[in-house]
Amino acid sequence: MIAAIGAVAANGMLGLDGWLPWDIPDELAYFERTVAGAALVIGRLTYESMDVVPPDSFIVTHRTGAPLRPGCTACASVEAALRGAMATGKDVFVIGGASVYAAAWPYCQRFYLTRIERDFDGDMLFPADIPLDQWRIVSDVRGTYRERKTGSDVVCRFLQYEQASPRPLL
Ligand SMILES: NC(=O)c1ccc[n+]([C@@H]2O[C@H](COP(=O)([O-])OP(=O)(O)OC[C@H]3O[C@@H](n4cnc5c(N)ncnc54)[C@H](OP(=O)(O)O)[C@@H]3O)[C@@H](O)[C@H]2O)c1
Repeated sequence: MIAAIGAVAANGMLGLDGWLPWDIPDELAYFERTVAGAALVIGRLTYESMDVVPPDSFIVTHRTGAPLRPGCTACASVEAALRGAMATGKDVFVIGGASVYAAAWPYCQRFYLTRIERDFDGDMLFPADIPLDQWRIVSDVRGTYRERKTGSDVVCRFLQYEQASPRPLL
């Protein structure tokens, strides 16, 4: 199954200065648990922001021949990255950033989206044209967690959306 996973603030923000606008260890732990053992599809900027990139990661980039970390493969399109990830036989997760979500969502059966119920300053918005409001919600779990930049608690809503008829990957 191809799935996407991400988190978004109440005002639609997804990123700030090449990283996340918030610091919520429990949300990050949820992300890590969910994608553990999967093949990942990652935009080049998000890849560069990551300290650790697991094996079977497929990096979407127009740059050919750029050195990547072990276990990573450069792919010239989102579709090529999805094909590479599918060929591993593992579950496939698209982990962003915004440009990769925008291109990959038609192929995704599930979107794991954490809605952080507070506005955050940012410079990258979650793509507005992903029609999640037309997808079925199959899981919806709330929790309250410490956000370390502000030192206050935030509510996180861990949603799973399911798309009825994802586009086949040819
Ligand atoms: N909140 C979350 O869950 C979450 C998750 C992930 C990322 N983020 C945040 O999102 C921000 C980054 O998002 P972004 O959209 O700027 O960057 P991105 O999607 O991570 O990477 C963009 C790069 O990917 C490559 N690319 C994208 N589409 C392509 C295509 N169709 N064909 C070939 N290459 C393609 C290009 O690389 P080249 O320039 O090498 O050609 C492009 O510059 C950061 O702030 C990050 O922290 C947030």
